[in-house]
Amino acid sequence: MRTQSAEKTFRHIQEIIEPQMVVEGAGVLLRRSFGPHTSNLFDPFLLFDHFAFNKPREGAPVGFPTHPHRGIETVTYMLDGNVRHRDSLGNTGLIGPGDVQWMTSGRGILHEEMPRRGPTGAINGFQLWVNLPAAQKMSPPRYQEVTSSAIPVVAQNGVTVRVVAGAYAGVQGPVTEIAAQPLYMDVTLAPDSNFELATPQGHFVIAYVFQGEGAFGADDTHDGEWVPAVHMLVFQDGDCVRVKTGHESPTRFMLMAGAPFREPIFPYGPFVMNTREEIVQTLAEIRAGTFVPSVPESLARAE
Ligand code: CO
Repeated sequence: MRTQSAEKTFRHIQEIIEPQMVVEGAGVLLRRSFGPHTSNLFDPFLLFDHFAFNKPREGAPVGFPTHPHRGIETVTYMLDGNVRHRDSLGNTGLIGPGDVQWMTSGRGILHEEMPRRGPTGAINGFQLWVNLPAAQKMSPPRYQEVTSSAIPVVAQNGVTVRVVAGAYAGVQGPVTEIAAQPLYMDVTLAPDSNFELATPQGHFVIAYVFQGEGAFGADDTHDGEWVPAVHMLVFQDGDCVRVKTGHESPTRFMLMAGAPFREPIFPYGPFVMNTREEIVQTLAEIRAGTFVPSVPESLARAE
């Protein structure tokens, strides 16, 4: 099948993933699309979780009590409800609806992440883990926190895009200087709309469809595959992504892309390093209490 159109090659769908329910942290129910594995099939991405809370409002508080990270970036994006966080650098804050926190753990961070219901009673949000290249795994930790109002929104022809990282229609997202050169966008299509975006050849592209239904991986002669929420899509290589909606349904999805590092990885829980030796070293530092220089009193108490 020819997919060439002028100079453009459209990305078709390579795989449709059914997210699996898993329990993490202190009883947090999640829809997990994929997690860290030595096969590194989603390079440069490591994990994608969707908070899917269904506990009663009065239930015991659940969340992610103090835990370490090394060698990765965690990206938290909330739709509903919020996540209270605090960390070993002394940061504390609230990630609210429409906000994003792009945390680069580098050599190490200890943090606590506690999702809370918003006024509607819902908690809805995502966490993406992005790998770091070997040369940056032991870099100093860093946060980029962006509030909802600081995320640019492009709305035209039935297409609404919140641009967190990368560029759409000439509008650049506020998260920058990330090793994976990521694209991270929240895309909403009204019925009968067309979305198209150039993505560099060789970059890895995925979409998490969480509302409605759309035809993903369309080209000039084919509609693509009709995919309803809730699914993770992996695209084939190419230099353009196209998504269409029909008369009946809108759709909303997170679109993510990044440049693969093509390095071996060795994941272990909240750490992702390149070799087993580096994990052994990390665990030795945790045991010796030297993983982070100091732990604020408030965080130490939380353990
Ligand atoms: Co964490």
